[in-house]
Formats: sequence, C-alpha cells, structure tokens
Amino acid sequence: MALRNVREQGELILGKISKEVKEMTPRTAELIEDMLDTMYEANGVGLAAVQVGVLKRIFVVDVTGEDPYIFVNPKILETSGEQSGQEGCLSVPGKTGIVTRPNYVKIAAYNENMEYFELEGEELLARAICHEYDHLDGHLYVEKVEGRLMDVEELEEEESADA
Ligand code: NI
Repeated sequence: MALRNVREQGELILGKISKEVKEMTPRTAELIEDMLDTMYEANGVGLAAVQVGVLKRIFVVDVTGEDPYIFVNPKILETSGEQSGQEGCLSVPGKTGIVTRPNYVKIAAYNENMEYFELEGEELLARAICHEYDHLDGHLYVEKVEGRLMDVEELEEEESADA
C-alpha cells in the first residue's frame, strides 16, 4: 500500500487539463493502486489522478467502500435529472457546499486493463462521477457551490442543532 500526497486548492496543477492515457504501463497501474489506497485512507468516495499530481485522465470512485470503479479516458455519454446536495473534495479539506448535479449519468471508460465499459449511475454515484470528471478538466466543485462554502464542523453544529 502506498499513499500519495493529495494536492490542495490553490495549487496550480488542479486547474490544468489532464491528458488521455495511451496505454496501460506498470507505472500507470501502480498509480491507480496508489489512488485507491489514498482514497480509502482519506475516507473519500472518489479521487482523480490530478489530485495526486498526475495529469492523466483517470479517476476512481467507490460510493460503498467495497466496490471501486476505475475510469480511464472517461466520456460522459448521457445525463438526466437533477439532484442538489452536500459535496466535498479531498483537495478542499474541511469544507462542504451545496452543488446541483445530474441525478443520472451514463459514462463510457476503460478499466485498469484498458477494457472498454459503460456504466450507469444514479444519485451519489452520479454525483461522484460528475465531480471527478470535472477534475480532469481542471474544475473544482467550489466553482459550482450554491450559496457559500461552509466548514464541515459548522455544518455538523447546525445539523445537531436541528436534530
Ligand atoms: Ni474532488
């Protein structure tokens, strides 16, 4: 298991456009393994390669904690519906904000063996895919937050006050 350093908001690399992966090399396979380790260690539901400083069009998502999807050179084929909810990002630690995303997404990508697949996701999976996809084009969710960005701690206080 190898953890990589997660880049944080303010670092220029996070605004850059990631490049297509031409072939799966041992180095890229190791990157994917490290991305999964890094995501799980941070209790994240997704991580893009650019977040560990590598400008390749790769991201990983696992919304259940036991069923990771690896997306290499992904393309969003279709979206529909709308959902509004709290979002966060390992590159923006301690913060959260409300973002509206499609409620359904159909995506095509290659897996870690460069085998083509298509996947349909709804709700949290759709949200995570859209969030990670944005990273590949240099975008952070904070650009899409409605209202203001909040501290996670502040939100927890509000929620416990409501309960
Ligand atoms: Ni993120």
